[in-house]
Amino acid sequence: MDNLIIYNASEVVTCSGFEAKKGSEMNELNIIRNGMIVIEEGKIVAVGSTEELKEKYSIENYKSIDAAGKSVLPGFVDSHTHFVFGGYREEEFSWRLEGKSYMEIMEKGGGIINSVKGTHLANFEELIELGGKRLDSMLKFGVTTVEGKSGYGLDHDTEIKQLEVMKQLNKNHEIDVVSTFLGAHAVPNEYKGKEDEFIDWMISILPEIKEQELADFCDVFCEKNVFSIDQSRKLLMRAKELGFKVKLHADEIYPLGGAELAAELKATSADHLLQASDFGIKEMAKNNVVATLLPGTAFSLKEEYARGRYMIDNGCSVAVASDMNPGSCFTESIPLLIALSTLYMQMTIEETITALTINGAAAVNRADKIGSIDVGKFGDIIILENESYKYLPYHIGVNIVEKVIKNGKIVYKK
Ligand code: NIG
Ligand code: FE
Repeated sequence: MDNLIIYNASEVVTCSGFEAKKGSEMNELNIIRNGMIVIEEGKIVAVGSTEELKEKYSIENYKSIDAAGKSVLPGFVDSHTHFVFGGYREEEFSWRLEGKSYMEIMEKGGGIINSVKGTHLANFEELIELGGKRLDSMLKFGVTTVEGKSGYGLDHDTEIKQLEVMKQLNKNHEIDVVSTFLGAHAVPNEYKGKEDEFIDWMISILPEIKEQELADFCDVFCEKNVFSIDQSRKLLMRAKELGFKVKLHADEIYPLGGAELAAELKATSADHLLQASDFGIKEMAKNNVVATLLPGTAFSLKEEYARGRYMIDNGCSVAVASDMNPGSCFTESIPLLIALSTLYMQMTIEETITALTINGAAAVNRADKIGSIDVGKFGDIIILENESYKYLPYHIGVNIVEKVIKNGKIVYKK
């Protein structure tokens, strides 16, 4: 927790707000020219023009960064990842290049179950090391908070191990980690045809996870041939009763009605949504469910992109996240997400930045604490190499983040 002043910034892109931005609000970035930010004990205490704030705060009394010619933004929030796993699947990727589909590979016993085996075999320290390295990589892209899911255990001990790894990384790594229990991520072989029983068993583990404070959210892979709408509803309703916030992997491959279920349950977010119906999207907007889009996954699986433009035009709050995982999308690249959101989901760069900051924060229920440069929030900030945020989509596929600041402390410098 440090004291820091950033001054002379060509622009401070505040993304100001304390809740998810909906529809046309997503275009408002609230930019301050020649901006200055004052951070004390890790928290933002002032933001405004350098001229005005220099009168009140003496730069000499602080650690300081002269950000002349640089654009300054809130740290990115990657609100959907599966970054703790053992068991890479590079073979499957090459099968996909030869034309096999993700579901075909999964139905033949590959896919998630393969990473489950690897995660089972890896011990706690190995997972800490693997997960920590992936967080290091995310930090360089400007990510200051990440959501991470279990789901490569599918048995009690391995699920708990994954959640404990995330808890420890949250303490020891600069990036904040928000944990999600995704025990219902795939059907293990011994439960094939007995999905109801598996869901009941997952429900029986929830109280322990709550008591040990191992997860904020409960999630489910609600998909044809995985978990049905009714099974997903049962699990998530119980999770809500126990005090979890809920999320869904919804309408990714088949239009099952996951968006509608998310609205019914008032889930914090529904994620993927490639096949979400018009009605489901409108219901999500009405019920303030964040639509978390994962264009890296659509790209990697060569699927149609989610209808980001339509969702925003119909009043949704859209977040964009990496889905970083060993199967459907093995990347932590924010530049890739920006390229896909702007060029293939018809989102403006302003909407894309909102989706990666304040709306990402809302997707992990932290819009009151992070996701914007506002007084009272944590000093999680990135400084770009260039004077304008418009370089983010323009410099295609290149990381232009020059410095990352977490709680007022410089944690990465190019
Ligand atoms: O969000 N769709 C399900 N889960 C992950 C993929 C996990 C994996 O393939 O290992 C996803 O895409
Ligand atoms: Fe996912």
